[in-house]
Parts: sequence; structure tokens; C-alpha cells
Amino acid sequence: MSFVSFPRKTLGWMLAILSLSISSYSALAAELDAEAVKRGKASAAICASCHQADGSGMNIPGGESWPRLAGLNRDYLVAQVNAFKEGSRSSPTMTPFAGMLNPQQLLDVSSYYASLPTKPITVPNTDPAVMEHGKKLALEGDWDRYIVSCSSCHGPNNQGVGVEFPGIAGQQPSYIAQQLEAWQKGVRKNDPQNLMGAIAERLNSHDIAAVSAWLAAQPAQ
Ligand code: HEC
Ligand code: HEC
Repeated sequence: MSFVSFPRKTLGWMLAILSLSISSYSALAAELDAEAVKRGKASAAICASCHQADGSGMNIPGGESWPRLAGLNRDYLVAQVNAFKEGSRSSPTMTPFAGMLNPQQLLDVSSYYASLPTKPITVPNTDPAVMEHGKKLALEGDWDRYIVSCSSCHGPNNQGVGVEFPGIAGQQPSYIAQQLEAWQKGVRKNDPQNLMGAIAERLNSHDIAAVSAWLAAQPAQ
């Protein structure tokens, strides 16, 4: 993939057009069905030991972190569980649970998590210089290294856009880092057109720690 041959401005426009053409496939945030939310609450009992009863997940630095599911897009959640089932995402912890739900239960449990409010996260590393670097990557990117800002795809304040671009603000910090590393290693490969793989391969470990900490500390709406 050779971005290098395009002038920077062209690259920016190409990404904008690409993002728009992807977003146009997705329906706008689907109305959540109250009955589905109610049924999903019952199925969520088996998920709560890791994702927690309030869906806020848990930060486990050095281990396998449990992502926040609360407030994420319903159809994004469905797609991710199916990705574990099909093997385009892999986790020794999560994969066995992905197979436990039939399609209706998956839709219900995803409706339930999508309906939950989000809570602010306490971020362990709040070194101001690290946070400043993370903020720059998240909101401006680093054009000298062909790193597009996270918000150019993940939307204003990184709150997510439709089904394809999940909200990443207010997500558990070590989970964010874990996913960027999974893309670098090629074990997460369910993203459309390798959009995330192409970003992750340009980030070094300092970038990953910084952008994960900064994003986690931002409120999820
Ligand atoms: C034993 C712990 C555990 C249980 C129980 C569990 N999960 Fe997970 N889940 C994880 C871990 C760990 C990950 C992150 C894996 C990775 O790094 O990709 C994850 C990831 C996910 C994701 C991806 C989130 C995202 O932002 O992309 C979804 C969706 C999910 N789980 C749904 C569920 C549902 C629904 C259930 C209940 C049926 C469930 N999980 C039960 C540990 C668990
Ligand atoms: C060119 C578009 C694009 C850019 C720029 C981008 N992302 Fe993404 N990102 C995506 C897409 C698409 C997905 C959803 C992939 C999927 O379907 O699994 C995603 C998913 C993610 C996820 C997984 C969230 C979850 O809940 O599992 C994380 C973490 C992430 N991106 C972090 C970042 C960070 C950090 C940056 C900035 C350094 C960034 N992204 C920039 C397109 C992009």
C-alpha cells in the first residue's frame, strides 16, 4: 500500500471519500427495540463476569483486558461477536462465549449493551507529555509519518460513526492498546479494507501507549 506517492492533501480527500462511501452502506443508528433490550438483559448474565454488570469492562494492564460494551453501536457489537465466531478476531477468552448465542440472542444481548449508559474511566498513566502526544495523534494525526487522525474515521470526539466506525473515546486503555497490537500482529483482520491495519502498522509502542491513555480518558457520550 503506497500512500507515499500521493500528496498529503490528496490522501486526506481520498480517506474522506472512502469513509463516506463506507458509511453510506450503514443504516443510521438503529432504534433499539425495548423487548429485545429486556430479553438481552437475561442473556447478558453470562457476559457480566468479564464485561461487568454495567457493561463497563475492565482495564487489565499486562493481561487480556475486557472491553466496555455499554453504549456501543448494536450492529457493531453483533459483527464483532460474529468475527470471533468466524476467526477474523481471536481471543482464547472471548471466542468460546461467541459460540454460545444464537442469532436472536446475539441481537438481544447487543441491544441490551447498546442501551446502557457509559461511565468515565480512571486512566492510570496521566503523564502530561504522554497525554499531549496521544491527543495530537487522536485529533490531528502525524502527517510526517502518514498517520491520519483517529477522529477522521472515528468521528467528532472519537464517539463513533454508524456501524463501521466504533466509538473509541472512553474505552478501556489497555484494551485499545491490545487491539492496535492485534492489528500489527495480524490476528485481528475483520476491518473493512484493512483501514485499521494500515494505521496500526505506522504506530510505535510509545504512540500506542499515549493514544490509548488519552482516548480512554475522554468521555464517551
Ligand atoms: C471470560 C471473559 C469474557 C466473557 C464471559 C465474555 N467476554 Fe466478550 N470479551 C472478552 C475479552 C477478553 C474480549 C477482548 C478480546 C480481544 O482482545 O480481542 C472480549 C471482546 C468482546 C467484544 C468486542 C468488543 C469490541 O469493542 O469490539 C464483544 C462484542 C463481546 N466481547 C461480547 C460478549 C458477549 C455478548 C458475552 C456474553 C455472551 C461476552 N462477551 C462474554 C472476555 C469475555
Ligand atoms: C481510515 C479510517 C480509520 C482511522 C484513521 C482510524 N481507525 Fe480505528 N477503526 C477503523 C475501523 C473501520 C474500525 C472497525 C474495525 C472492525 O470492523 O472491526 C476501527 C476500530 C478501531 C478499534 C477497535 C475498537 C473496538 O471496540 O474494538 C480501535 C481500538 C481503534 N480503531 C483505534 C484507532 C486509533 C487509536 C486510531 C488513531 C491512531 C484509529 N483507530 C484510526 C477505522 C479507522
